[in-house]
Order: sequence, then structure tokens, then C-alpha cells
Amino acid sequence: MSSNVNINLNKNIILAVTGGIAAYKSAVLVRRLKDYGFHVRVVMTKGAQAFITPLTFQALSSNAVHTTLLDPEAEAGMGHIELARWADLLLVAPASCDVLAKFAQGLADDLLSTIYLATKAPVWVAPAMNQQMWAAKATQRNLQTLIDDGVHVIIPDSGEQACGDVGRGRMPEPEALAAQVFEFFKTQERIQTQQFGLLAGKKVTITAGPTREAIDPVRYISNHSTGKMGFALASACYAAGAEVTLISGPVSLATPYGVARRNVTSAQQMLDESMQMLADGCDIFIATAAVADYRVAEIAPHKIKKAGDELEIALVKNPDIVATIAQQEKRPFMVGFAAETQNVEEYANGKLIAKKLDMIACNDVSRQDIGFGADENAMTVFFAKKYGFNQRDLEKASKLKIGEQLVEAMSDALSTKN
Ligand code: C5P
Repeated sequence: MSSNVNINLNKNIILAVTGGIAAYKSAVLVRRLKDYGFHVRVVMTKGAQAFITPLTFQALSSNAVHTTLLDPEAEAGMGHIELARWADLLLVAPASCDVLAKFAQGLADDLLSTIYLATKAPVWVAPAMNQQMWAAKATQRNLQTLIDDGVHVIIPDSGEQACGDVGRGRMPEPEALAAQVFEFFKTQERIQTQQFGLLAGKKVTITAGPTREAIDPVRYISNHSTGKMGFALASACYAAGAEVTLISGPVSLATPYGVARRNVTSAQQMLDESMQMLADGCDIFIATAAVADYRVAEIAPHKIKKAGDELEIALVKNPDIVATIAQQEKRPFMVGFAAETQNVEEYANGKLIAKKLDMIACNDVSRQDIGFGADENAMTVFFAKKYGFNQRDLEKASKLKIGEQLVEAMSDALSTKN
């Protein structure tokens, strides 16, 4: 966690803990949420109390813990309706199979299921369970129902599980969850303030992250892109009122709130998804992905065995995604990115013309403090000649701030075009 700590957004969170071994992580989650200045009240199901005691959460949240529905004393304090009204977010972490089924069916036989039905606040669930239970048809069916009902489902991580299995079902780490909650409220705040409206009603597609080009079943060619700039830009576009889809290569970032995400691996898959988005309707296409320029001519069907001192692998050129989209008849407003180490203006303008872009954002990757993997960036934006705009220098700032300035630049260009 970084400079965000202690920014008090004055928001109330009900952290609901249900029965599962991941409940131990929820204790740390209370701390991390409080680090961000959130007010936290904990609700525990009966199952949760078999794993961890209410006293732990009482001490960590500095509030009484809520466990029962029909206890007159508890209801006299803060009853289920008051709790439901108090919350700005109901976060269920960990969410057991049982609670997902209850929510999906609308049962109301305990405190948590009653609050779920009674609250107007957004509801997030972070399922955590054995990988087989996660994969079970009934669980997936219930999750789909919850998604259709507007619940935000945080997909569990893959890895080793407490039961010894390996697979999907681990609750994300408390730091990552708290950061997502914070980002959600920050986005809401931006929507309510200056940014909203600049891209209202626009459909935006963003490519992000690296691509992976397979060599054989276990090896691949890739690069160091982390996807941070594309993800931050997606968040800024959403806050500006756009409908955003991220086409992401393999990265370890949480999907920004409000953004639809399609995961891909190779450049060809990224192009296929991009063409699909174009067919579905796209007003702005932003290419932040670090697409591998070449792929292996023929992927070996089996692991290549160590042999002589040298190994030659033939490579063929990958399609240029942004240039391909720009050539289409119904082309969207096209934004490219460029990373250069010298002659930034000349190379950027060259790409702008060659790839038929409307706008290109360029960073000088010879600088150590910005670019790949960093949280900050500094960029220069160039526009196609027809807009008659001078270049814009965006001073070093967080990638989110840079994203907001890029949104302004796009909006300015779009309004001159219309
Ligand atoms: O030519 P260069 O790779 O420097 O161009 C960078 C821009 O082109 C970025 O916007 C990148 O996402 C996009 N690009 C692409 N498909 C490729 C290569 C680059 O969309 N195969």
C-alpha cells in the first residue's frame, strides 16, 4: 500500500465473514480496510464462528460484531435493517458455497442473508472454497445468478489450498481486496466530480499487458509489460462515463471496477477479440498492449529437448493489431502508445502516420523512473494533423492521473471531429 493510506473517503463497509478456512484472512482484511480510513462493521455467520471468534473482529474493527437475527438485545442495538441502511458496501469475504446459494435463492433465515436482501448498497462476494466445490455446476449456476442480479464477484485465485488440493478457490490476499475496494470508491468519487461525462456513452476497447507466443507446450516468448497503464486508463475511461472492455494479456492485476475484461494469451487471440469488439460496436480503440512483434513459425507439439550448443527457432511477424483495426471501413477513434529511447517526436509521428492513428501517447523508456512496471509515467501526446493540435506534455504523475489526462485529450480531439 502506498500514498493512498489514510485518505478518508468516509465510507461504511459491512464485512461479512462466512464459514471457511479463509476466514483467518478476513482478520487482516479488517486492518487493511481501516488503513484506508473505512468504517468497518463485521457480520459473522454461524459457520464463520467455528473458524474464528467474534472477539477477534470486535478488537480489530473497534465495533460490536453482529451474529444473530432474532436476538432482541442485538436488534435493539443495530438491527438488520439499520445495518443494511448503514452500509455503503456489503463485502462478503470469504463467501462460502452456502451463502452464494442462499443469496441466489433469496433465502432470509439468518442475519447476513437478511441484510443482503435489505440493502441498497453494492454487494461484493469473494468466494473461497475447495477447487472442486468452486467448479461444481450448482456453484457456477448460483454465481451466474448473482452476476445477473448485479453482484460483483471477485474471482478466487489459483494455487495450493488448505485442503491440499491445487486449483482455483483461494481468497485473494487482504491487501489486494482492500485496494480494490478503495479503487471502487475513488472511481465513484471521480464519477461524481469533474471527470464524468467526457466520454459518456462511448464504447471503449483497450488492449493491455504483454502477449505470450508459445514455443512449445512449456515455453513462450514474452516481455516485461505489467499492464498497469492500460488498466489505469480503463478505470479513467469508466469514470468518464464510457463502457469499457479490456482485452488483456497475462497480467496479475485485478480488473478495474466497472470494466469488462477478456483474457487472451497470444497476439492473434488479441487481434481476434479486438475484431469482435469492433463488430459489436466500438467508438474508441486504445492500444496499450506490448504485443510481441514475432511469433514462432511452428509451435513444437512436444517439449523441445536440450541438444547441441545452439538452437534456432524460426519466427514470423505477428499482425499489427492497432494498424489492422485502423484499416477497417468503420474505424473507431484510434489511440496508440509508443515507447522510445530517442528521437521521441520523430518516431511517434512516424507511427501515427504509418498506423493511421488519431492520437499517440509516447513515453521515453530510457528514463528509469517511469514506464514498464512503474506506478508513475510521463508522456507526450501527438495528434493527427487534421486536429490542428500541438503536442501535449504530461508531467510525471500516477498512471491513473496520466489516464485522466489522456481521457481529456481524447475528448478534446473527438469534439473537434464532431
Ligand atoms: O510499432 P510499435 O510496437 O512501437 O507500436 C506501438 C503501438 O502499436 C502500441 O499502441 C501497440 O499496442 C500497437 N501494436 C499493436 N500490434 C502489434 C504491435 C504494436 O497493436 N503487433
